[in-house]
Amino acid sequence: MGSSFVPTVMDLAYLAGTALFIFALYWMNDPKTARRGVFAGVAGMTLAVVGTLLAPGLVNWEWIAVAVVLGFAVGIPLSRVPLTAVPQRTALSHAFGGLAAGLVGVAKYYLWLAESPEQLTHFRMFAISAEVILGFLTLTGSLMAAGKLQEVKWIPQRPVTYPLQNASNLLLFAIAIVCGLLMVIDPIGYSYLFPVIIVLALAFGVLLIIPIGGADMPTVISLLNSYAGLAAVAMGFVLDNKLLIVAGALDGSSGLILSIIMCKAMNRSFSNVLFGAFGQVQAKAVGVEERTVKSETPEGAAQVMEQASRVVIVPGYGMAVAQAQHRVRELYDILTKKGVDVKFAIHPVAGRMPGHMNVLLAEADIPYDHLVEMDDINPEMGQTDVVLVIGANDVVNPAARHDKSSPIYGMPIIDADKARMCLAIKRSMNPGFAGIENELYFSESTYMLFGDAKAVVGELVKALSGGGGGH
Ligand code: TAP
Repeated sequence: MGSSFVPTVMDLAYLAGTALFIFALYWMNDPKTARRGVFAGVAGMTLAVVGTLLAPGLVNWEWIAVAVVLGFAVGIPLSRVPLTAVPQRTALSHAFGGLAAGLVGVAKYYLWLAESPEQLTHFRMFAISAEVILGFLTLTGSLMAAGKLQEVKWIPQRPVTYPLQNASNLLLFAIAIVCGLLMVIDPIGYSYLFPVIIVLALAFGVLLIIPIGGADMPTVISLLNSYAGLAAVAMGFVLDNKLLIVAGALDGSSGLILSIIMCKAMNRSFSNVLFGAFGQVQAKAVGVEERTVKSETPEGAAQVMEQASRVVIVPGYGMAVAQAQHRVRELYDILTKKGVDVKFAIHPVAGRMPGHMNVLLAEADIPYDHLVEMDDINPEMGQTDVVLVIGANDVVNPAARHDKSSPIYGMPIIDADKARMCLAIKRSMNPGFAGIENELYFSESTYMLFGDAKAVVGELVKALSGGGGGH
């Protein structure tokens, strides 16, 4: 008979934690269960931390107390950022994850090197090298991505390109990998290469992000999420911690899947996002002077809307900036009361993060069944009386369908131009994130409602509540 396995409290906590992480991801797939998913994730992480603290002989309480206080000091302000800043906040979390993985790798390497070099097996050295390379490149890459999204002055928003950029970046990465492999062969003899690997990984993280434009940052952040996950997997092997391996693998794969979904929604390939220097194309001056736009007053627009039988609202980044979702809810309520059929057209990359519009509209308690995905709403656009675009731009730009020279050519869009009339709320004629003009606004059937989305929707609501009529 073999020795029987008696699980410790830590094993049980890790098992329950693993299950909760998997359920968390599953529940977060649907807005109805997303909240439960978040709680499951928090509970899983709590179990993971408590389980680790209960591990015999593993705990140095003073330092852990310092780390917990520092974690709270950084984490609490980070949780208070506005929803529009969540992508850069997420990037900062990845940066911390990468830094933690990298530092654990450094600490473990030098500890083993000084105290018990025989612990530095080939396998462990492989895991440490992977952890350090992925961890440190995630650190600087995520900091750069967060800086670009936050529009930090000294970080250029536009892609910065120079000759042989991709080749030199790949060469740098290859040198880091070769150094890592040499250390796997002889972890002690090549110890002088360890700092070289760290410096190369830090530099590679910066250089990887420089050629990528701000518009692609959400996709890149999701990719950095998967690098942070892989760094955690490597850290799990170094520390022989199974929960870390599972959680890292879940993180790594979900980040990768999300980046693929985002690339598909923008009709872009991975290589195009990473090496394509998207956003470099300057807005071309297609005779702005010659083209005219028509504008409408909120009162006039309200009249048109209350006479419509079917209205489709297309929310975009501008609705998030203006935090107009609660006013939009009032508009939805009043139009519905007047017998107008109101639906919301949701583009998969509207806003700045996946599910951005769903989160905002759910916050304002707009019923989920009135949120219609792009592919389902587009066939209905021809029979729509009024489409109301609220702070959306690129996701309704018809150039994506026909203008081969456009940087967004091929990106699926919401066919707002096919509705009988389009009302578009934005503050100016400034372009959206891709930096290009939108021909929808110059179309015969489009009327602009210039102003901040919250204010304009508020005026629409006021005009609609003042006037009677309807069906
Ligand atoms: P954008 O194309 O960025 O356009 C937003 C528009 O909102 C701007 O033209 C702006 O015009 C207007 N706006 C800003 N603040 C406003 C305010 N307070 N009130 C009223 N209008 C305001 O947004 P979109 O159509 O949602 O497209 C998203 C873009 O992000 C796409 O290019 C997409 O590819 C990219 N992207 C998104 C994701 C995800 S996951 N969502 C990922 C990668 C890339 P004014 O300045 O004139 O007001």
